[in-house]
Amino acid sequence: MVASLVQLRGVTKRFYGQPVLSDVSFDIAPGEVFGYIGPNGAGKTTTLKILAGLITKFEGEVTIGGANVVTERDKTHALLGFLPQSAGFQNWRTVESALDTLGALSGVPSATRAKRIPELLERFGLSEARTKKVKQLSGGMTQKLGLIQALLHDPKVLVLDEPLEGLDPPSRKLLKDIIRERQRAGTTVLFSSHILSDVEDVADRVGILNAGKIATSGSIRELMTAFGLPIEIEVDLAVVPETLPFDGLGTVTPHKPDQWRLEVPTSGDADAIIHTLIERTLAAGGRIRKIGVAEPDLDDLFAQYITRSAARG
Ligand SMILES: Nc1ncnc2c1ncn2[C@@H]1O[C@H](COP(=O)(O)OP(=O)(O)OP(=O)(O)O)[C@@H](O)[C@H]1O
Ligand SMILES: [Mg+2]
Repeated sequence: MVASLVQLRGVTKRFYGQPVLSDVSFDIAPGEVFGYIGPNGAGKTTTLKILAGLITKFEGEVTIGGANVVTERDKTHALLGFLPQSAGFQNWRTVESALDTLGALSGVPSATRAKRIPELLERFGLSEARTKKVKQLSGGMTQKLGLIQALLHDPKVLVLDEPLEGLDPPSRKLLKDIIRERQRAGTTVLFSSHILSDVEDVADRVGILNAGKIATSGSIRELMTAFGLPIEIEVDLAVVPETLPFDGLGTVTPHKPDQWRLEVPTSGDADAIIHTLIERTLAAGGRIRKIGVAEPDLDDLFAQYITRSAARG
């Protein structure tokens, strides 16, 4: 087993006595891309701030490259590129000069800054904006500025708090490409998201955080098996009959306009239920556009998982 590059052991963090993280432990191997998933308020940002050395009062131990994030902060800081969830740039500076200062603070030599800053601005489509004031940037542009700042010193470990948030589809693709490129170059990446399908493309492994606890971790495939999802039938109606055909067949939920999902009871036979649904719909004067067993999408999966674990308490 390869020694882990990032290691959290029994991390508990309380704000005003309330636990926000409870005994969180995980490892990230060198060169791995780890997706850190969880709903609002789960504790993702708190975890990443601990890694970045911005929160220093907590129980447990956190190391990066074997160095402790609290007692050897200079060492861990040098290894780390960090994108905060809400980046605080000096608003009145120009894009160029803000990046130059941040690069200098991270110890990037001036010749390297002069080369890498224009390269990265170009890559993110921000060359035109380089002389703009930071406060004149749009939300997505500010997010890109944060990403450039995190990438500038070519860190060994990238910690990105919701890096895809606020980016348009081409920019999301660009960032995913960059994450994969960085991985090939040996960088280890930890990034948070609410959206499981976002991390599907890039993460080798995901950890799911719920209410301050690691609910589960593994590859996406392992998670899908672990979730043990029920089978659902998806019904799209072109003409909706006056009485819907679902009575007594199982739990039904409206999914999209004119689309329903029926959860097949564990003892149920999906084919027989589909047959009944077709008969009933046609008899009631409805028309079917599409019917069949639904492919669970990752986001559904995640939503169901969170709902079920909340119900378990
Ligand atoms: N400085 C603070 N003081 C008090 N409570 C805090 C503080 N920072 C975070 N919290 C609380 O800790 C919990 C976890 O917050 P955190 O920001 O880590 O969640 P998150 O998973 O990043 O959520 P989101 O998806 O909304 O970004 C929340 O209940 C939040 O209210
Ligand atoms: Mg957050």
